[in-house]
Amino acid sequence: MGNLLTISDLQRDEIEEIFDVADAMAEINRRRIPKVPTLRGQTVATLFFEDSTRTKLSFDTAAKRLGADVMGFSVSSSAVKKGESVRDTIETIEAMGVQAVVVRHRSSGVPLQISRWSDAAVINAGDGWHAHPTQALLDAFTIRNRFDSLDGLHIGIVGDIVHSRVARSNIEAFTKLGAQITLVAPPTLLPARMDWPVEISHSLDDVLEDLDVCYLLRVQNERISEALFPSLREYTSMFGLTTRRADRLGPNAIIMHPGPMNRGVEIAGEVAERPNSLVTDQVANGVSIRMAVLFLLLGAPRESLIGGEGERSVEVVPVSAGESGGSR
Ligand code: CP
Repeated sequence: MGNLLTISDLQRDEIEEIFDVADAMAEINRRRIPKVPTLRGQTVATLFFEDSTRTKLSFDTAAKRLGADVMGFSVSSSAVKKGESVRDTIETIEAMGVQAVVVRHRSSGVPLQISRWSDAAVINAGDGWHAHPTQALLDAFTIRNRFDSLDGLHIGIVGDIVHSRVARSNIEAFTKLGAQITLVAPPTLLPARMDWPVEISHSLDDVLEDLDVCYLLRVQNERISEALFPSLREYTSMFGLTTRRADRLGPNAIIMHPGPMNRGVEIAGEVAERPNSLVTDQVANGVSIRMAVLFLLLGAPRESLIGGEGERSVEVVPVSAGESGGSR
């Protein structure tokens, strides 16, 4: 991997390699001191031109746990506010010396454009409606950890498909890993043209009992400029995972949501707290996946994860009984 811009950049075996490395990262994250010096001396810039909680904090955390320096960038307090262009911003940051640039932007294609200007590894942290590849990787990793494999699983992706970069990246990732996908949405929240290998349903009630994974999307009010459904109440009555609907899921079925959740709209607050809701596992796995992506993109040697020769005494703490910090 040179950059990570979309899931299309990855073959199935490359996704599986990321999962294998993420397993090793998860082990590091369970240590009392979850930190290794693998990327010491490298700098990761996190450029978020659009708001984020999970993605930004988990990339920051991932880079720090691998020993990298993090160059944070807040648009609201930067020269972007004075009209500085994305290109000049990138050239300014690169002049200070960075090896990786993590970028989120409201416009599709900005990470690709940055990759043409920059020698650093570029990671797309979400661009417009287009792609959110690390979200898809952490979602697929979460499903794989629960079921061992995505092969043959039936995954329902429910809600606002048309505005969702998460849906686009997840469809690609889940399909590559062998899952069968049903998109569940009103016609107004589906793209006009789709060439994905998916089934379509306009009724959550029709598919609910057959799902292994019920993946709920956020209703993206900030991207909806016209009335695409009569009211939020009507949306919830047709497509929300209410307590009554959640009761009808199979005994092994899981519930997922990328966050931030609109509780009471696409998911009932009580349902989000159920044992089969993996929302917080997704967040925890996001750190391991982003560590794996940084590790692979920056070309760190495998031995460095376990300390390696000459590193063994540096912040690498072996896990022993009672030392595990548990899932983070
Ligand atoms: N899932 C996701 O991208 O969340 P943030 O917007 O908080 O990063």
